Amino acid sequence: MSSIGENGADFLVVANRLPVDLERLPDGTQRWKHSPGGLVSALEPFLRVHSGAWVGWPGVADADVEAFEEDGLQLHPVSLSSAEVTDYYEGFSNGTLWPLYHDVVERPAFHRRWWNTYVRVNQRFADVTAKVAAHGATVWVQDYQLQLVPAMLRELRPDLRIGFFLHIPFPPVELFMQLPWRTEIIRGLLGADLVGFHRPGGAQNFLWLARRLVGLEPSRGAVGVRTRPGVVQVGDRTVRVGAFPISIDSSALDALARSKEVQARARQIREDLGNPKKVLLGVDRLDYTKGIDVRLRALNELLEDGRVAPEDVVMVQLATPSRERVEHYKQMRGDIERMVGRLNGEFSRVGRPVLHYLHQSVDRKELTAFMLAADVMVVTPVRDGMNLVCKEYVASRHDLGGALVLSEFAGAAAELTSAFLVNPHDLDGVKKALEDALALDPAEGRRRMRALRRQVLTHDVDRWARSFLEALGAQTAV
Ligand code: ADP
Ligand code: F6P
Repeated sequence: MSSIGENGADFLVVANRLPVDLERLPDGTQRWKHSPGGLVSALEPFLRVHSGAWVGWPGVADADVEAFEEDGLQLHPVSLSSAEVTDYYEGFSNGTLWPLYHDVVERPAFHRRWWNTYVRVNQRFADVTAKVAAHGATVWVQDYQLQLVPAMLRELRPDLRIGFFLHIPFPPVELFMQLPWRTEIIRGLLGADLVGFHRPGGAQNFLWLARRLVGLEPSRGAVGVRTRPGVVQVGDRTVRVGAFPISIDSSALDALARSKEVQARARQIREDLGNPKKVLLGVDRLDYTKGIDVRLRALNELLEDGRVAPEDVVMVQLATPSRERVEHYKQMRGDIERMVGRLNGEFSRVGRPVLHYLHQSVDRKELTAFMLAADVMVVTPVRDGMNLVCKEYVASRHDLGGALVLSEFAGAAAELTSAFLVNPHDLDGVKKALEDALALDPAEGRRRMRALRRQVLTHDVDRWARSFLEALGAQTAV
């Protein structure tokens, strides 16, 4: 890594996290590691190819780090104090907005101190970005942690072209209206030239709120996927509002899964698991929206009912540690780990656990090998903006093997219609889908996987980014 020069950047991504997190080791040294989550998985490959700049938090409190360059990417760290991490990141972002935007599956907390810190930190992101962007640059602001940045940045730098993309669901208006600072959020987003959501429903909700809360006159026509964006006039500016379903670097994953090394590792994983007839796999951040409890409950009941034999199946659940100091996450981790213990206590034999639970992040090669080794990928969020894991599974299955069980409440369900789609609130339905996926006829499995791959390989992250940036009218990076 080297430090960067004085020239401003023409194309910038602004996100809560940098693509790398600073890790402080017990011996006092520090190193950078890959950041968790779908936003980084999706954007990093795109930005590395287009050599842009990235403004973000290094992932730990009080990190005083100079801007630096890594692999052609300029990284501009934004420092947060430990009180700001508590109130802006753990508090307003993940204790208020995250549950509110995910259908209130947990109760959001509304605290004025959290809000005030959210405003202050958003202003800092805008200030840093205003300093490092070249004249007329394109700035792409990401996600719910930074919804005030578009308007703040426009105030500082009217010359910039500003896009905003929300990576999580935009909630139904009845839920959004609970937020005491609802008008400020809508005004913040309206600072962008283009506001993007995964699904047309999110865009429609936003347009409705622009009318109701800000008194504007948005267009009334239905918003399409990548087409027919809504339009709203804000003073002398035209703001576009559209739907752009995010995706993955499909061909890179396809190639990785075809490599001899990953295929050998996949065989080894099956062997290490005791060569069971069927391997089930879950891969998630350990988050209460992901419905990890749903799939464990369904498996438990299938084993109890005798519909699945414990000697025939092994499930692997990989769970990346996430937001560990937030109360809802602490509680959920305890609940999940009790369920893991109970399931293994009931159905395992010595040397042959029925469920392997790893509270760890694994690297991309290893993850791909797990996906290639799995007969059934189980993705059961109660609400998810998109969910990239299911697309990664499809991209990995060049052999047309495997089956995907996918929640209807993941944004990806609208695209991956050949999956076994389930309502995660209907436990009997989830059990039936798991049973069907485990017993899937290979020819039918290949038919389904072929259809899924057609979608995922033709709609990759590059297409997502290009469609957004073209709609934004960006001159750079496309
Ligand atoms: P979110 O953005 O809510 O975390 P997504 O499914 O969109 O959910 O993206 C999650 C990303 O994190 C994917 O790229 C996935 O491969 C990665 N990931 C999730 N769990 C793990 C894990 N245990 N080890 C490594 N990567 C993981
Ligand atoms: O897409 C949802 C998201 O919150 C991203 O904004 C974020 O980078 C990722 O999930 C991981 O969450 P966190 O940054 O809180 O660890």
